Amino acid sequence: MSDLSPSPEFAKNAHIDAEGYAKTYAASIADPAAFWGNEGKRIDWIKPFTEVKDVDYTLGQVKINWYADGTLNVAANCIDRHLATRANQTAIIWEPDSPTDEAKHITYQELHDNTCRMANVLADLGVTKGDRVVLYLPMIPEAAYAMLACARMGAIHSIVFAGFSPDALASRINGCEAKVVITADEAPRGGRNTALKSNTDKALESCDASVKSLVVKRTGGDVAWTDRDVDYNALAAKADTTFAPVEMGAEDPLFILYTSGSTGQPKGVVHTSGGYLVYAAMTHQYTFDYHDGDVYWCTADVGWVTGHSYIVYGPLANGATTVMFEGVPTYPDASRFWQVCEKHSVNQFYTAPTAIRALMGQGNEFVEKCDLSALKVLGTVGEPINPEAWNWYNDVVGKGTCPIVDTWWQTETGGHLMTPMPGATTLKPGSAQQPFFGIEPAVLDATSGEEIHGNDVEGVLVIKDSWPGQMRTVWGDHERFEKTYFSDYKGYYFTGDGCRRDADGDYWITGRVDDVINVSGHRMGTAEVESALVAHAKVAESAVVGYPHDIKGQGIYAYVTLMTGEEPSDALRKELETWVRSEIGPIAKPDLIQWAPGLPKTRSGKIMRRILRKIAEDDFATLGDTSTLADPSVVDDLIENRMNRK
Ligand code: WTA
Repeated sequence: MSDLSPSPEFAKNAHIDAEGYAKTYAASIADPAAFWGNEGKRIDWIKPFTEVKDVDYTLGQVKINWYADGTLNVAANCIDRHLATRANQTAIIWEPDSPTDEAKHITYQELHDNTCRMANVLADLGVTKGDRVVLYLPMIPEAAYAMLACARMGAIHSIVFAGFSPDALASRINGCEAKVVITADEAPRGGRNTALKSNTDKALESCDASVKSLVVKRTGGDVAWTDRDVDYNALAAKADTTFAPVEMGAEDPLFILYTSGSTGQPKGVVHTSGGYLVYAAMTHQYTFDYHDGDVYWCTADVGWVTGHSYIVYGPLANGATTVMFEGVPTYPDASRFWQVCEKHSVNQFYTAPTAIRALMGQGNEFVEKCDLSALKVLGTVGEPINPEAWNWYNDVVGKGTCPIVDTWWQTETGGHLMTPMPGATTLKPGSAQQPFFGIEPAVLDATSGEEIHGNDVEGVLVIKDSWPGQMRTVWGDHERFEKTYFSDYKGYYFTGDGCRRDADGDYWITGRVDDVINVSGHRMGTAEVESALVAHAKVAESAVVGYPHDIKGQGIYAYVTLMTGEEPSDALRKELETWVRSEIGPIAKPDLIQWAPGLPKTRSGKIMRRILRKIAEDDFATLGDTSTLADPSVVDDLIENRMNRK
């Protein structure tokens, strides 16, 4: 194996080396208030904070406040403060879906002007401080303008991934009582257009009539027009290019982002302004070893938290040049990522393991024909990366010279909590390795809740104390926030992940310990898919679990019990797949559906998912104790008709 210790040349120019990491980490844990007080100065405050941290993890009174008496404007930090020195520097390189269309280089001045235009248009629609605005957009510059316009005027944005269905969009618009939804005519992706406007029209049928829809022209496709639609391009052309940033409290919400949990419907994760921005900016700088003048590319979609923190807020707060890509890795062919890297001389490249696995399968020639000599750091996010994919990324893409940062974090955490640091860490394929500054992970025994000390141990992963980027509450449901993250293990933030701490003290994430699955790096609650399935008239009951999938990491395996009198058929299977797509979105479509005459239940009626997971994994030899089942014979039928046979 190649030497995975940091190269001396890299370490020399890096923000932090091994010794620096150890020293800074120790200081950050010894005196968090001093450490974060100092880091808080990396952004501009209108009124400087005097209080750094006010946190209580006690159930019933959980509160998380950072820099609470400071005031600032996030958009001014991402744009205006750079204008004196960077007005003509490119802020965003926009790369469209089709390589034959022209890329756009948007300077900080243009970003300013367009953000202000968007803010003025929103203000004309009646949006003011504290109002919610839903974004349902393709990966186009207007998505960044809209996020920053909301931040500038103190409105709270909530982005809904453009792959979600009208129903999912409607429930999010209603969930946060949005005043406006910003959408586009169509979203080109991989050579196909998604009908965003018509999806929005369908969603709005289930929303209050006062909700306005602001429509950006992307393709110019023919779309139906209703009374509540407002033509963004017509208004933006006439709009003023200035808009005074609104003074916001550090703890005023910046955005809501819905994410899947183990129970019920997705919850609205709330991030606030000051602490979030400090944390996004700091992690972006250190994790990617970002230096002035670098071109940085995160391939995520702004519909996910990765796009929020590491396409928009972190990079722009640092005055970076950030690439925004509309397309997919395999269109027009498997060379697309690498061609974009070559075309824009990308220095830091950040993507998901599922994309790496898919591209690895296409062969090395797609990578080798491109000039990737500008690359300095490679990153991954969203799910564990298997060593085979890691090695391919390292050898074929990075040519053995680019440190790989395997960043572990969550929608809830706002930014990276564990990651190797380029220039400081001797890498281990598949491990997120070590905590970021100020983060104190602990491994607990799942049953007793006791902390497991020492190395070479495994358990559930919790975090001992707060950090500025942490979520503050669930929108409209603080009780659910406390219950989800602070009730199982008292005094800790519970991550929902399991982990192993190896003999050297490095961390390996072993996956979710709750009923959340990770499909192509997208988080999906099994309960959400189940409730979509049982909403179908022919379905009586359903249980959904994850199973190992070569490309997606995990696939969706659904056990379905039909209503009495309904006959299983391939046509019905197709019908259910289409149904789930339309209820939630294509990412939730089950990969395998097994007809289950009965589900394994305890006598009290609880479905024993452990057994269903084992069968879905084609690993039924060790099912464990089934004696507590009400009817053990259902298991034999499920094994006999299992869908995932190796
Ligand atoms: C998983 C994405 C292993 C984990 C930023 C976490 C990872 C969930 C990694 C959060 C990683 C994320 N290694 N697992 N590097 N990164 N995960 O909210 O299970 O979409 O709890 O945030 O993804 O997913 P989310």
